[in-house]
Amino acid sequence: MSVAENVKALIEDVPYLSANLANVSAMIYENYDRLNWAGFYMMKEGKLVLSSFQGKVACTEIKIGRGVCGTAVEKNETIVVEDVHQFPTHIACDSASNSEIVVPIHLNGEIFGVLDIDSPELSRFSDTEKTELEAAVKVFEEYLPQMR
Ligand code: SME
Repeated sequence: MSVAENVKALIEDVPYLSANLANVSAMIYENYDRLNWAGFYMMKEGKLVLSSFQGKVACTEIKIGRGVCGTAVEKNETIVVEDVHQFPTHIACDSASNSEIVVPIHLNGEIFGVLDIDSPELSRFSDTEKTELEAAVKVFEEYLPQMR
């Protein structure tokens, strides 16, 4: 099964947002090797706030335009970073992280949050992972309006 198909299987009969965020982060962490963090930040009061994840304790709030996550929100596009140490405003929650991908999630035409995945390996995320994860987020977005 693709990651998008896994997301569908996990969430299609589950109307609870917190349960779906938790299971999707766990599924992604299990399905990809060479990761050290996978999870979600949600938009609250004009900033990103930490939500469900797998990995080490992470920063709880990220300003829009800061870090890879805040930049993905500002630009409203997926950001793939081959070497986080070269990314000017990168926020080092886990010092093991060397590369990162952040995919924005939308609800009703606005940014709802982001999916953030970190790897200890440089250049871990290629176009393959970008395409797979964007497809997975698209499925999540389809079910999001019905979640509570
Ligand atoms: N590195 C991220 C912060 C979140 S942690 O990776 C979990 C960033 O620069 O936005």
